[in-house]
Amino acid sequence: AIDVAKLTKETGLTALDYGFVNTAATRSSITYIDGDAGILRYRGYPIEELAEQKTFLDVAHLLIYGELPTEDELASFDHRVRRHTLLHEDLRRFFDALPRDAHPMSALSSAVSALSTYYEADHDPRDPDKVDKQTIRLLAKMPVIAAYAHKKSIGQAFLYPDNSMSFVENYLKLNFGIQAEPYVQNPVMVRALERLLILHADHEQNASTSTVRLVGSTEANLFASVSAGIHALSGPLHGGANEAVLQMLRGIRDSGESVERFVERVKRKEQGVKLMGFGHRVYKNYDPRAKLVKQSAEEVLAQLGVRDPLLDIAQELEQVALADDYFKERKLYPNVDFYTGVIYKAMGFPERMFTVLFAIGRLPGWIAHWREMMLDPQTKIGRPQQLYVGPVERHI
Ligand code: ACO
Repeated sequence: AIDVAKLTKETGLTALDYGFVNTAATRSSITYIDGDAGILRYRGYPIEELAEQKTFLDVAHLLIYGELPTEDELASFDHRVRRHTLLHEDLRRFFDALPRDAHPMSALSSAVSALSTYYEADHDPRDPDKVDKQTIRLLAKMPVIAAYAHKKSIGQAFLYPDNSMSFVENYLKLNFGIQAEPYVQNPVMVRALERLLILHADHEQNASTSTVRLVGSTEANLFASVSAGIHALSGPLHGGANEAVLQMLRGIRDSGESVERFVERVKRKEQGVKLMGFGHRVYKNYDPRAKLVKQSAEEVLAQLGVRDPLLDIAQELEQVALADDYFKERKLYPNVDFYTGVIYKAMGFPERMFTVLFAIGRLPGWIAHWREMMLDPQTKIGRPQQLYVGPVERHI
């Protein structure tokens, strides 16, 4: 790697790099990606092994603290998270101020931002105990907030967390449980969600994580930084793609257009139409997460006894695109968002909740990066340069 700071000082040149395609903003020891080979590892562990053998909390511990937890460490971590799930009653009422049709991603980000107002005394990035307390609070409360954003959007009463349950079970109950009725867990859904959250848990310097780091570089607090990251994730070119994929698949089904014709329109870039859930800045090979999600989609739908023609359309789209020179030349493959929506839909989540599920999965990664940055003596406030191209000087 070139030390750009040194080079620009010596030569007086400025590097212009739209979209930071060629610029490393930090050193990091959290996640390794080899985009050409389709490899993804968290702290050195292949994503395939983690998704198969570990729980989401194991992986959160790995990302945040650097190691998979021992049995005792996991028990203590899990216990601490369970003890912090309750929201302040006033924060429950925060949702009353939002319109019923508020997008759950906007509601999630707003309520996470509002969390900052409750724990101001513990906003100290230099105090490890306080950072840890904020970490646990955010891990515990964000899923509850996310479930309330869902309940708000469908007009149902909020449930209190049930801390006798695991992280994922609790989350499912908060979303699908109905007050005064017993909630029966579906183990297929529990394992599928556990797996999906693990697959989303980190992806090094993506747009939302870079946002978390940029905001955090000003020493803004963890909740404020993550709230900004949630907004960054919401865009259709990033996490919002999982919702956009379902809209695209539904559009194809409802219009009766053939998959081949749709792909032709994509290739003509008709009105900017893209194959959503395809392409990635880093992967120039099959996204390893997409491989696992595709396999999960087939298994979970079969296990839940759901037959969804949208899965057939997605599979056909993939087949047609992968055989086409346009996609081959540009090395465009399905990314993690291509098949996730079909699974979330089969579980009963509305489309507008899909990106919220991504956000819950990505939370340990955001926290791990925020903490890594705070401990790195090289960290500086993020402040890119520009090349000014406006008028040189004018007078009124
Ligand atoms: N459909 C059709 N063409 C595409 C697609 C797509 N999904 N993605 C890229 N291309 C084309 C571009 O038009 C461009 O073609 P050109 O050379 O003829 O102009 C070429 O492939 C290179 O694309 P870029 O936009 O330069 O690639 P970049 O790395 O900047 O963008 C991105 C990556 C944003 C993910 C892009 O592939 C995209 O928009 N995909 C669809 C949205 C999506 O699925 N986002 C989720 C990404 S994964 C995640 O965030 C979790």
